[in-house]
Amino acid sequence: MASSVAALLIGLAAHCALATVPTVDAGVITIDLLNYLANYVTARAPAGWTLPAFPWYVYQTVGGAVATGTHGSSLKWGTMSNQVLEMQLVVANGSLVTLTPATHPFLMRAARVAVGKLGIITQLKMRIVREQPVTRRLRTIPASAFLSLMSEAQTSAQRGSYPDWVNETEFFWLPHRSQFMMVSFTRGDDPDPATRQAVLASYSPQNTTVFNTSRQLLQDSLVTRMEDLPLLQGVSFDTPAGLTPAAQASKLYWV
Ligand SMILES: Cc1cc2nc3c(=O)[nH]c(=O)nc-3n(C[C@H](O)[C@H](O)[C@H](O)COP(=O)(O)OP(=O)(O)OC[C@H]3O[C@@H](n4cnc5c(N)ncnc54)[C@H](O)[C@@H]3O)c2cc1C
Ligand SMILES: *[C@@H]1O[C@H](CO)[C@@H](O)[C@H](O)[C@H]1NC(C)=O
Ligand SMILES: *[C@@H]1O[C@H](CO)[C@@H](O)[C@H](O)[C@H]1NC(C)=O
Ligand SMILES: *[C@@H]1O[C@H](CO)[C@@H](O)[C@H](O)[C@H]1NC(C)=O
Ligand SMILES: *[C@@H]1O[C@H](CO)[C@@H](O)[C@H](O)[C@H]1NC(C)=O
Repeated sequence: MASSVAALLIGLAAHCALATVPTVDAGVITIDLLNYLANYVTARAPAGWTLPAFPWYVYQTVGGAVATGTHGSSLKWGTMSNQVLEMQLVVANGSLVTLTPATHPFLMRAARVAVGKLGIITQLKMRIVREQPVTRRLRTIPASAFLSLMSEAQTSAQRGSYPDWVNETEFFWLPHRSQFMMVSFTRGDDPDPATRQAVLASYSPQNTTVFNTSRQLLQDSLVTRMEDLPLLQGVSFDTPAGLTPAAQASKLYWV
């Protein structure tokens, strides 16, 4: 199983509304896949392509991310596993099996998050979308506000649907401050015209960061600092020097 990005292939099979479905070796690192897709520029996709949702940590293998149900912040698009259109794996008797939701509906559901127990994933076909402007909003809210929001979402879900704000929002608990970081993403193709216009016009109040593309989020120092995390050096909540004001306000990851 090759793990270099050179082994990453782009197929041209038509699937649903997508013109292009990439086939990726399971050993490819997620950031290499995202970079490859972003650079796959065509007239119809001037900013390239991207996975509709991906984790904040992007240095794991695509196969490992799928095997563990690794996720970003998208109830709408789901996890990396939700984006798998076809999976090839080597099973215990040594044979290569190709699974799709159409040919193996039950096995495919099990294999989407199997933590390596059903076989070794060798290749994946992944759902992709065109790159577009994305707004990220960071807010620090008290625990009571978080609980109200959860209660609101739960009540709404009991009536049959989640509120729209849930679609691409994630929370990080800051237990020492009894606060939650609320991180929301809004895309340039939001169904609401006014929201769409706000994103496209790069409307930027104090706590909003506008990125031209979702992949650009990865260049934010909030994320790139993760490479230097002192994971084994105990817990500290000090603000490190050199972060953007938004990243300093968040104090995410600095544990
Ligand atoms: C600093 C850090 C930040 C993280 N951030 C996020 C995040 O934002 N969101 C999130 O959801 N997760 C996050 N994770 C978790 C990470 O995405 C998962 O642990 C992921 O599985 C790691 O991938 P890996 O390639 O290192 O897999 P490994 O750790 O090597 O394997 C994980 C599991 O998957 C199985 N597996 C791996 N490859 C295959 C394969 N080809 N076929 C079948 N089974 C396979 C292994 O058997 C094992 O059980 C983070 C982890 C770290 C260390
Ligand atoms: C190996 O397992 C697969 C999946 O269960 C099965 O389809 C195939 O027939 C098996 N091959 C052999 C040689 O037993
Ligand atoms: C949120 O997701 C639901 C279900 O996919 C969808 O119907 C709705 O339009 C989405 N809302 C926004 C603002 O994207
Ligand atoms: C922006 O963040 C600050 C501090 O993090 C907070 O006091 C303020 O209420 C936030 N504003 C908005 C509009 O969320
Ligand atoms: C977005 O793209 C425009 C035009 O290509 C550029 O001028 C601008 O600096 C970009 N914004 C960011 C945040 O990169």
